[in-house]
Amino acid sequence: MAKKIIITIDGWSSCGKSTLAKQLAKELGYVYVDSGAMYRAITLYFLRNNVDLAEKKEVKAALKNIALEFVFNPNSNNSEILLNDENVEYLIRDMLVAEKVSDVAAIREVREFAVAQQQKLGLKKGIVMDGRDIGTTVFPKAELKIFMTADNAVRVQRRFKELYEKNPNITIEEVKNNLEMRDYIDSHREVSPLRKAEDAIELDNSNITPKEQLQKVLFWANGKIAGK
Ligand code: DC
Repeated sequence: MAKKIIITIDGWSSCGKSTLAKQLAKELGYVYVDSGAMYRAITLYFLRNNVDLAEKKEVKAALKNIALEFVFNPNSNNSEILLNDENVEYLIRDMLVAEKVSDVAAIREVREFAVAQQQKLGLKKGIVMDGRDIGTTVFPKAELKIFMTADNAVRVQRRFKELYEKNPNITIEEVKNNLEMRDYIDSHREVSPLRKAEDAIELDNSNITPKEQLQKVLFWANGKIAGK
């Protein structure tokens, strides 16, 4: 049987990390894990329960009441997240969650909670995980690490298109402000800030098609699986 590896995909918001990670997992027969969905689900729980982010005790107590799980939905052909047994995969993509998630993800206790679960999911290898600190903190020994970037204007357009389908009232300005704010908080927080791992390969996808991108990364992955 072929050797199984861990592939990490980190990078800025809306660079197409999850699109690549999903395709890659499918091609390799690996499990795909969207670590951002975990921070988003925690944020949804905090919003619903009015958890005060400045109160460590409240945050810790709330985390004790949160159970996260991924299940594969054959209808959407996607792995979806359950928050205390409720499928919240669509709710967590809401702008209300997007506005708060970077603040929630900057809290040390929240990161410890999420990282421990992410590391468990990788125990058997054969996994593609995307996020911000997967190659640096979650799996520092991963066999293949990718760091994705894309021009700001390209990212804003992509994200706008995605959100506009769900909410035609959304404006380009709102999307741009949210992306810039999240990038700033994600890369300046004290605990596990977004940064490229030294041994990560940088992939700028502003000017390549998703198909070309997948071919490139599959080539790298197959090289690592073959032990090169
Ligand atoms: O990938 P995403 O946009 O769904 O992630 C949502 C937020 O979660 C993002 O603003 C930063 C945070 N995040 C993180 O801090 N660490 C990760 N490994 C994944 C996401």
